[in-house]
Amino acid sequence: MNAQEIKQLDQAHVAGTYGRYDAVLVSGSGARVTDAEGKVYIDFTAGIGVNSLGFCEPGWVGAVTEQAARLQHVSNLFYTEPGVHAAKKLLALTGMQKVFFANSGAEANEGAIKAARKYSYDKYGEGRSRIITLTDSFHGRTIATVTATGQDKFHRYFGPFVQDFVYVAAGSTEDLLAKIDEKTCAILLEFVQGEGGVNNLAPAFVEAVAQQCAQKDILLVADEVQTGVGRTGRFMAYEHYGVKPDIATVAKGLGGGVPIGGVLFGEKTAAVLGAGDHGSTFGGNPLVCAAADYVLSQMTPPFLADVEKKGAYFREKLTAMPGVADVSGLGLMIGIRLKEKTNKEVVDACLAEGLLVLTAGKKVRLLPPLNITQEEIDAGLAILSAVIG
Ligand SMILES: Cc1ncc(COP(=O)(O)O)c(C=O)c1O
Repeated sequence: MNAQEIKQLDQAHVAGTYGRYDAVLVSGSGARVTDAEGKVYIDFTAGIGVNSLGFCEPGWVGAVTEQAARLQHVSNLFYTEPGVHAAKKLLALTGMQKVFFANSGAEANEGAIKAARKYSYDKYGEGRSRIITLTDSFHGRTIATVTATGQDKFHRYFGPFVQDFVYVAAGSTEDLLAKIDEKTCAILLEFVQGEGGVNNLAPAFVEAVAQQCAQKDILLVADEVQTGVGRTGRFMAYEHYGVKPDIATVAKGLGGGVPIGGVLFGEKTAAVLGAGDHGSTFGGNPLVCAAADYVLSQMTPPFLADVEKKGAYFREKLTAMPGVADVSGLGLMIGIRLKEKTNKEVVDACLAEGLLVLTAGKKVRLLPPLNITQEEIDAGLAILSAVIG
């Protein structure tokens, strides 16, 4: 099939929930991807932070294909080996105590919300179920996680919503203190808000949140779906802030391209969910866990230091571009606020020139593969510089 035929069939048969880029991608290697017409693009998107090791990294391909040839899936009623390895590595990298494997970020957050409410129920009884989230947050598309998402544009059409979610203005300690009450059981936040515009939370605000949580036995729940698994140059973004959440969720980059998420439980919450409290047919099957295990095996201190170094290089080059107002984010999670051009103009022009970039709010967002090479970075930045000016 040629590109035109594929696009037409997609439009005719697939629900139109995505505003797709005008490209049919067929193969990739490293941070380069080729479309159906043979055009090659530098990829600064990593499938929205998913392909942490780029396209078809040989070790990852080996791990996935080997597992697919041995045992792709059994139900969670049985023990299997890949999940044990992935879990052990995740806990060693985070210092958390237990993990529940899910299939996506939204599903991981659903698990976190359920666990937070059960923690409170077990300890304080019914009624202490309120969850604080932040304005401009994004936590997913399921009905509970879209409720948790503090952006009105996601709330049209889909009500009634899940009860007992309260939004605090991101960064406002005053609003936080006004909205915490005796019914609050958890505060759910992204340390760098991704979809909301690559907004870094202010350290003083995070400190106030952590203090309130510790004082009032409110659970601090970190949504690390986009920021986790090395994206920010530390394994988890909370490490930049010197706080330790009670629950943390990961997904996107964990499997390097296969659907896997995780809910990580700390000391307080490790025993909250017992047999029958939660589950998922596909969650943590051998195939996705083999992929995650391989991705996690790459997350060594030198690898993470390299992510930080590359992030600093991007920032230096981007801030020197005359058309850039400022650069936000951490590590290889990068938000670019433009002076004059719109982000849509930049995305379209980059696509035409052979570079894939994303948007977030009004910004251009970059989430390149974590192992992107210097040559790939420079090739992409040259296009970006010519487009942004
Ligand atoms: C911070 C955050 N949480 C949750 C989600 C939802 O993840 P998924 O699309 O895998 O359900 C996303 C997706 O963009 C995200 O960025």
